[in-house]
Parts: sequence; C-alpha cells; structure tokens
Amino acid sequence: MFASGSGSNFQAIIDFIENGHIDAQISGLIASRPNIGAIDRAYKYNIPHFVLATDQSGAGLSDILIKKLNEWKPDLIVLAGFLKKIPSEVIEEYRNKIINIHPSLLPKFGGKGFYGINVHKAVIEAGEQESGCTVHYVNEQYDKGDIIKQKKVPVLEGDTPESLAQKVLKEEHKLLPNVIAEILNNN
Ligand code: GRF
Repeated sequence: MFASGSGSNFQAIIDFIENGHIDAQISGLIASRPNIGAIDRAYKYNIPHFVLATDQSGAGLSDILIKKLNEWKPDLIVLAGFLKKIPSEVIEEYRNKIINIHPSLLPKFGGKGFYGINVHKAVIEAGEQESGCTVHYVNEQYDKGDIIKQKKVPVLEGDTPESLAQKVLKEEHKLLPNVIAEILNNN
C-alpha cells in the first residue's frame, strides 16, 4: 500500500482482510511523508512501513522504492491517496501490478492538480450531475492508465465539495477492496 493521507482506504483494506473477505496480506506501507494517519494505522496493525523524505524524488526515489518492493515482493501495489509521482522505473518493473483509486469518474477530473478536495470543487463548479470513483492501472501518465472499475455517485443540489468528497470516499472504501479481491483471485 502507498498512502499520503489519513489512510481510510488503507483501513478499508485492512478490515476487508480481517473480516475474511480475501486471503491476502499487506506486506507493507510506503508513506510519502511523516506524521500521517496511514502510519498510525500501520503501527496499530503491525504492518511494516517505510516513510519517504518529503523532498525525495527522481532517481533517489525510484532506487528506494525498488529496494523496498524487492524486499516485500508484493503481488499487487495499491496506491490510495499517494501524492508522489511513481517513477517510471518502478512502473516498468511492476507493469500492470500497480493500481490507483481516484475520486472522480475518470477520464473526467483527472491529471495533474486534480487531487483531494480540488477534484470535488471542479466537479461541482462544472455542474456535473454525477461523480464517483475510479480504480485504474497506473502507467507513466497521471490518472491515464486503463480503467478497471468505477462507481457512480449522484451530485445533488446543495452538495458541497466536502459533502461530495464524503459520499465518494464511502464508495471508495467498498470499490477498492473488491477490485483488489477480483485481481488477486483472478491471478
Ligand atoms: C481518496 O479520496 C483517494 O481517492 C484520493 O485520496 C484520498 C485518500 O484518502 N486519491 P485516504 O487517505 O484513503 O483516507
């Protein structure tokens, strides 16, 4: 798992495994910065974790990631709110084994700058009647990899970016574990 924030999606996957919905193990958490909720969750559940330096990028970042991944040997890498760009060397080595969850119906409202509350603000400003979340494979371009599955959420009159974010996040917590189960079971 890779995360940069509170890690509520990370928690949803932990719960999904603990509740016996899938026979899987989380080999580790890569956190893009210190002091985030996801790290507290890793401690709580005894999941190995590795915290990147906030300014870590380029060749240094890909070396560290590849070293850690070679150690953990994951069958699947799951990005859940991870805000650093995955270096192309990592994508190459784990081609079609990296998935991401994005809080919009891609290809709409994806790409650089579309993260966090910005996504939901843009959806509301555009007057969309529906939004949702997307799980997709990660390739070299932000939010452009093949779409695996989406879940729609209606945008209602009176919705704010915050209320929409909450509704979408609730669906993310169901969509992501289910897609992980499908992928791991099919392999
Ligand atoms: C989610 O909305 C996810 O779609 C986005 O970042 C948020 C992460 O939330 N990429 P959390 O850290 O899992 O609570």
